Amino acid sequence: MSATQVVDRVVTLRESVGGWRGAGQRIALVPTMGALHEGHVSLVRLAKAHADKVVVSIFVNPTQFAPTEDLAKYPRPFEADRQALSGLADLIFSPPVEEMYRPGDSTRIQVAGPATVRLEDRFRPTHFEGVATVVAKLFHQVQPDVALFGEKDYQQFRVLVQMVQDLHMPVELLAGPTIRAPSGLALSSRNRYLDEEEREHAAIIYQTLRSCAEGIRAGDTPASVMEAGFAVLSKADFHVDYFEARDAETLMPTEDPERALHLLVAARLNTTRLIDNIAV
Ligand code: PAF
Repeated sequence: MSATQVVDRVVTLRESVGGWRGAGQRIALVPTMGALHEGHVSLVRLAKAHADKVVVSIFVNPTQFAPTEDLAKYPRPFEADRQALSGLADLIFSPPVEEMYRPGDSTRIQVAGPATVRLEDRFRPTHFEGVATVVAKLFHQVQPDVALFGEKDYQQFRVLVQMVQDLHMPVELLAGPTIRAPSGLALSSRNRYLDEEEREHAAIIYQTLRSCAEGIRAGDTPASVMEAGFAVLSKADFHVDYFEARDAETLMPTEDPERALHLLVAARLNTTRLIDNIAV
């Protein structure tokens, strides 16, 4: 592979990607906010298996952060990210904020369906509008054949599947599996906010998800299992925003035994908010 190109302007991005497309090459996009870890790298490798050229965007998107959230302190280790992608991605697109949101910018993607099921959206009411808006912009800029997202942000993936379907966007979406530390903790850029002890403790989230999924598979009722799981996390000093069993596709509550279930959790450990999920 030739050296990874780094561009920060849409016009330059379009020149490169347009050349590849003109040569009949298939293009994959992996949108990220940087602070890359093994989870992102695994998505880039998966992208490579589905396309000839891989574009990775690195953009800390202000519109998906609420004023009370960590936009200013969100990690931006660009040089380390560039090195992590060297030899893996064909192009890194890392635009400044004013390139993605030009003066006078006023268009937003309004989301409903899986974006309004009272999970993440209950605690971050403007988050998915910001995610959908920036991802739609990236899709228009790159025009990828395929785009890859981490399954760790399960609600985000369902929201984007809905957007692509509703807006007839000609892109295939793929979810890459959550990559975990040996303890089971889902890798996340926000894990940097945890100290060593908190990182070990946070593994309880996945252990609880797993034992709840096993309980439901073994025939226990979802309601009783989830209530017990909530109690385990609360007792272990997590502030639990939600711990829910939902329809795996619509993310709505369901009691239909024919529907596949997915368990989703958001919990705060001291000042760090963590999310995770598991299929039943
Ligand atoms: O999952 C993320 O890192 C972000 O929400 C995304 C999809 C890159 C949009 O900013």
